[in-house]
Amino acid sequence: MKQLHKQTSLNHRREEEMLGSSETSPYSPKSIKHTRSLPRSINYLLREQRLLFILVGILIGSTFFIIQPTLSRLGPPEPVHTFLPRTGLARFAGPGPRTGRVPVGIGGRRQRIVVTGGAGFVGSHLVDKLIARGDDVIVIDNFFTGRKENLVHLFGNPRFELIRHDVVEPILLEVDQIYHLACPASPVHYKYNPVKTIKTNVMGTLNMLGLAKRIGARFLLTSTSEVYGDPLEHPQKETYWGNVNPIGERSCYDEGKRTAETLAMDYHRGAGVEVRIARIFNTYGPRMCLDDGRVVSNFVAQAIRKQPLTVYGDGKQTRSFQYVSDLVNGLVALMESEHVGPFNLGNPGEFTMLELAQVS
Ligand SMILES: NC(=O)c1ccc[n+]([C@@H]2O[C@H](COP(=O)([O-])OP(=O)(O)OC[C@H]3O[C@@H](n4cnc5c(N)ncnc54)[C@H](O)[C@@H]3O)[C@@H](O)[C@H]2O)c1
Repeated sequence: MKQLHKQTSLNHRREEEMLGSSETSPYSPKSIKHTRSLPRSINYLLREQRLLFILVGILIGSTFFIIQPTLSRLGPPEPVHTFLPRTGLARFAGPGPRTGRVPVGIGGRRQRIVVTGGAGFVGSHLVDKLIARGDDVIVIDNFFTGRKENLVHLFGNPRFELIRHDVVEPILLEVDQIYHLACPASPVHYKYNPVKTIKTNVMGTLNMLGLAKRIGARFLLTSTSEVYGDPLEHPQKETYWGNVNPIGERSCYDEGKRTAETLAMDYHRGAGVEVRIARIFNTYGPRMCLDDGRVVSNFVAQAIRKQPLTVYGDGKQTRSFQYVSDLVNGLVALMESEHVGPFNLGNPGEFTMLELAQVS
């Protein structure tokens, strides 16, 4: 740099000498000096190639400022919603299409899913399936009928979280899907504290639907075939409205589930929440509570104790039973489907109680 400077001042001196030789006076008027210094500075700029850089810079700058407004008019409008770390499955609660922008690298990621009642019989199998599929699962359970033992094999799995929480109280989480199972399912358990059962069905479902609305998650309710009550139609289709006693001992469960279905459909119609309603028929399998008043669990408990099986009535009454993994597959398929509204999940084949006792 120093050398370059030296070279430049040498050049100046040489030029001055040349000019000086042609002029008679060593001093020149100011105006003449000014006109001479202009070509010299241009010369200097050209020599140092600075002019070129300045011109290129001006060119790039003006191109950007001319083109930029045109591009922003042509491009998509800026999203008005906040970022959503989610896949395309869940939608915004509002009636319009979802316009949230998914940050780069998050699209197509695994889903975050809440399972209420995930420590129970059906819930724990559902959690196993979702974790095996690669999702992140948060279980919410108050352990009224659920057990930690049903989930102990998942402790330490980074994709699994367990929260002791009663769904009657609100909770705020960021998830893509909500499977709402929390509710005692067997007559022994739901009759134990009927007011708590109906609170769980009504307030618990309200809280989880409110959460689904707030975060734009898809919501699945596990309802029951008991919403048909003592049905006057066989088999029961989803369009059948049922025959239910509103004031009986089982009403806390039957009517509780019917209200939960009503809430789900009202949140769908009123707030655009994507809801799925599974009406589950009798299910059996590992981890089911024994001796809980349900026919299969009673038979299994009696068989384990090597007691004679108790068949009520003439044993000709028919029931259908499905294995828990079939139910879980059905729940997941329903959640992923576009079917809004109730959907029966059960085994169409029926057994008499005597046939069931023979295979137990
Ligand atoms: N198993 C069946 O044959 C059957 C049939 C029809 C419907 N269902 C429905 O499926 C769901 C699961 O049934 P299940 O057989 O696994 O019953 P379950 O009793 O084994 O599981 C219910 C879970 O919900 C939890 N729970 C209950 N109240 C809660 C509350 N207030 N807050 C948080 N957690 C709470 C329990 O601790 C338990 O872990 C229930 O909604 C039930 O109504 C089951």
